[in-house]
Amino acid sequence: MSEAMLTITDLYAAYGKVQVLHGISLSVPKGKVVTLIGSNGAGKTTTMRAISGMLKPKSGRIELGGKDIAGQASHQIARAGLAHSPEGRRVFASMSVRDNLLLGAFPRFTGARLRGDIKRDLEQALDLFPRLKERQTQLAGTLSGGEQQMLAMARAVMLNPEVVLLDEPSMGLAPILVEEVFRIISRLKQQGVTMLLVEQFAAAALNVADYGYVLENGRISVHGPAASLQNDPAVQAAYLGGGGQH
Ligand SMILES: Nc1ncnc2c1ncn2[C@@H]1O[C@H](COP(=O)(O)OP(=O)(O)OP(=O)(O)O)[C@@H](O)[C@H]1O
Ligand SMILES: [Mg+2]
Repeated sequence: MSEAMLTITDLYAAYGKVQVLHGISLSVPKGKVVTLIGSNGAGKTTTMRAISGMLKPKSGRIELGGKDIAGQASHQIARAGLAHSPEGRRVFASMSVRDNLLLGAFPRFTGARLRGDIKRDLEQALDLFPRLKERQTQLAGTLSGGEQQMLAMARAVMLNPEVVLLDEPSMGLAPILVEEVFRIISRLKQQGVTMLLVEQFAAAALNVADYGYVLENGRISVHGPAASLQNDPAVQAAYLGGGGQH
């Protein structure tokens, strides 16, 4: 495998006394898409929250580009290049679509991250998400649920991140928009964006991913190249039975 961009080693996380992650380890190589599969309540969102600093891990290492970020504040982790598109479409409702996207680039304006060409990246993001391009000046709170989900993804990309965490980007979307979300993930992958993806449509996630991990009750039970997980009878029975294939 190529150089690891994000490496998690023996991560434990809890909400108060409720232990959720019991020592998970995973690795996301540079330029690859890795998917984390698991049932409701397995700890997928908790894993992403622990990585991005929304939840302080109890113990374990989280390395981004070789630097340990475990326990840092989320704004520091964002500056280090980690973008999180959280579960449940969180956008700034009273700001325009365009301003939401520029806010995603905030650490680049302040010099906390390499600035690059923000204007060009904004144009690229809008080209990737044509629905957002048509609605640039609209207040984000007036977008449909699906459009807000896309805005959350596009805003994450505007950081020009080392790694993007995508937590259920297709949640609650109509089938045609689910397809669009997966098409966008493929395009981002072609552009070399490194991603950790959580998706209810596990079959579709494995189609776009290079590698996958299965999380069961806060522990990794199986992991391997996406193609071998797709052919694993136990994984098929537990996670690939639904209508996620397309
Ligand atoms: N804020 C919280 N306080 C207490 N327990 C929580 C909190 N958030 C999540 N949990 C618990 O942690 C466990 C893992 O939740 P998590 O949201 O990580 O699951 P998930 O794998 O993302 O599930 P889903 O597929 O439903 O999104 C669940 O048992 C959940 O009830
Ligand atoms: Mg979740």
